[in-house]
Amino acid sequence: MKIHNFGAGPCILPQEVFKNASKGVLNLGNTGLSVLEISHRSNTFQSIFDQTKKLVLELMELSDVTHEVLFLQGGASSQFALVPMNFLKQKALYIDTGVWSEKAIAEARNFGQVEVLKNSSLEGYLKLPDLSIIRSGNYDYVHYTSNNTIYGTQFEDVLKTDCPLICDMSSDIFSKQIDFNLFDLIYAGAQKNIGPAGMTLVVIRKTFLDELVESRIIPTMFNYQKHIEKSGLLNTPPVFSIYVAMLNLTWLKEQGGLLHFDSYNKKKSFLVYKELERNTLFTPKIHIGSRSNMNITFDLVNQDLSSDFLEFSLSRGIHGIKGHRSLGGFRASLYNALSLDSVQCLVENLNVFERKYVD
Ligand SMILES: Cc1ncc(COP(=O)(O)O)c(C=O)c1O
Repeated sequence: MKIHNFGAGPCILPQEVFKNASKGVLNLGNTGLSVLEISHRSNTFQSIFDQTKKLVLELMELSDVTHEVLFLQGGASSQFALVPMNFLKQKALYIDTGVWSEKAIAEARNFGQVEVLKNSSLEGYLKLPDLSIIRSGNYDYVHYTSNNTIYGTQFEDVLKTDCPLICDMSSDIFSKQIDFNLFDLIYAGAQKNIGPAGMTLVVIRKTFLDELVESRIIPTMFNYQKHIEKSGLLNTPPVFSIYVAMLNLTWLKEQGGLLHFDSYNKKKSFLVYKELERNTLFTPKIHIGSRSNMNITFDLVNQDLSSDFLEFSLSRGIHGIKGHRSLGGFRASLYNALSLDSVQCLVENLNVFERKYVD
């Protein structure tokens, strides 16, 4: 039986990437060595490193003249602290869309004043705040999470502000076409659309580095400038994660790049939301206008059917749709590597489950 992996992350990657990564583990490019045993100072690894950086910039339509690319460790969660440690002098504005941004806010508060904007209505985190009012303010930067993986909310457009803009793109990076040049710093844990867990992508506009905090002692490994001075090889980087990211970003580019995935991902999510709206047993959690194309959260109207639905889904090869422990319900993640065919199976699964209970 074919397994359809709707897990939220680490998540599905293309079969082709798994195959090529396996080859690299056994014998990397006919060197007779495994990618797991080569030195990070070797020419072989340097070319993997350079190629991965090049692919990131190419997909973002940015240049190495204006932007720095780093592959760090510690996950996106470390960036919650590194960002304010390096850039928060006095005051920053954070958009609160729930768990991930709350964690970023908590870290920032250790370093300076934080103003928070959130949707304060009853809908809570199931509806995104209106960002049209944010234009100017005396902020060192504005920070937001473009896609909240847990609730399944996603900003359709890039936030507009006169201040430097920082974004946690962990769960929707490379899933759609946006103007990456509008951001001063972007970070993303790799384990969704980039590659396997273990590496965190950070892209910084070079001119934004002029705004680095000078009055604070920043430990070397947490200091962006120190990483940049050593061309991203300050210490041993996550070699294998970078290698697989290179394979995955190559695949992404060959499929047609962000232009292709923009419409492909919209098409996939449209089918699921349409079925959730139609189906009498289910209801989507998120308000129209705030819905994510990457993570679709939904509930059963009759929650007593939950374990039956999960078992039924598993028996049909549908994996990873249990909702986040903090929210309950269900969540189907439709990352780039998830095929339209898998989405059609999910839709059919919802449909057949309905017929089991409704005449
Ligand atoms: C939007 C978002 N930000 C941050 C994180 C934390 O990432 P990490 O586990 O790499 O620290 C996650 C994890 O899923 C996420 O979805």
